[in-house]
Amino acid sequence: MTPPSQSYKAGARLLHWSMAILVIAMVPVGFLMIQKGLDRSLQNNLFIFHKNVGVLLLILIVIRIIYRWRNAPPPEPTHLATWQLKVAGATHWLLYTLLFVMPVAGYVRVRAGGFPIEALDAMGVPALVPKSKELAAFAKSVHFYGGWAIAILMAMHIAAALRHGLIKRDGVFSRMWPTKP
Ligand code: HEM
Repeated sequence: MTPPSQSYKAGARLLHWSMAILVIAMVPVGFLMIQKGLDRSLQNNLFIFHKNVGVLLLILIVIRIIYRWRNAPPPEPTHLATWQLKVAGATHWLLYTLLFVMPVAGYVRVRAGGFPIEALDAMGVPALVPKSKELAAFAKSVHFYGGWAIAILMAMHIAAALRHGLIKRDGVFSRMWPTKP
């Protein structure tokens, strides 16, 4: 059993799992909605979901970065090899970076392209970037390559978490699980 001081705080776990569920939906929806020949109304709904949940994720990642800065994570598990800690640390920081870059690039791609973001439009939030074909194309490339990068990193992250939780059962998984051990 992991002592409570070895677990992430409740706020960190809430942010982790709420974002995890949303991002796991965002990636396949992002790839699916751009497929040719997709039913038009399904495509529209997927775009509306993706753009608006993406903006919510941008707000959540800003809160998460501030939370992480103000609340130190628990100490690293002592039984892991140095290389494992290094790979885990690098994966986590790359995920944080992509979780910020992806919604910003998506936002810029849509706004610079002159398209709506329904929730922001309903609240009267104006576009924060000018309309520009070049800017929209640049943001589109960043979003596309970032989409593949985040999919690969998430697969690595989930595989490592499942290995700890189901095979090694060494308490690493329960540090982030919603209920305290
Ligand atoms: C964590 C947040 C996000 C993730 C993980 C994500 C992921 C993806 C992925 C994997 C794709 C398919 C690859 C591509 O063509 O780019 C995609 C496409 C797209 N995403 Fe996102 N996205 C996020 C946030 C956003 C936001 C905030 C917006 C806009 C407000 C947005 C708008 C779009 C658009 C318009 C496309 C189609 C790209 C095109 O072909 O023009 N995304 N997204």
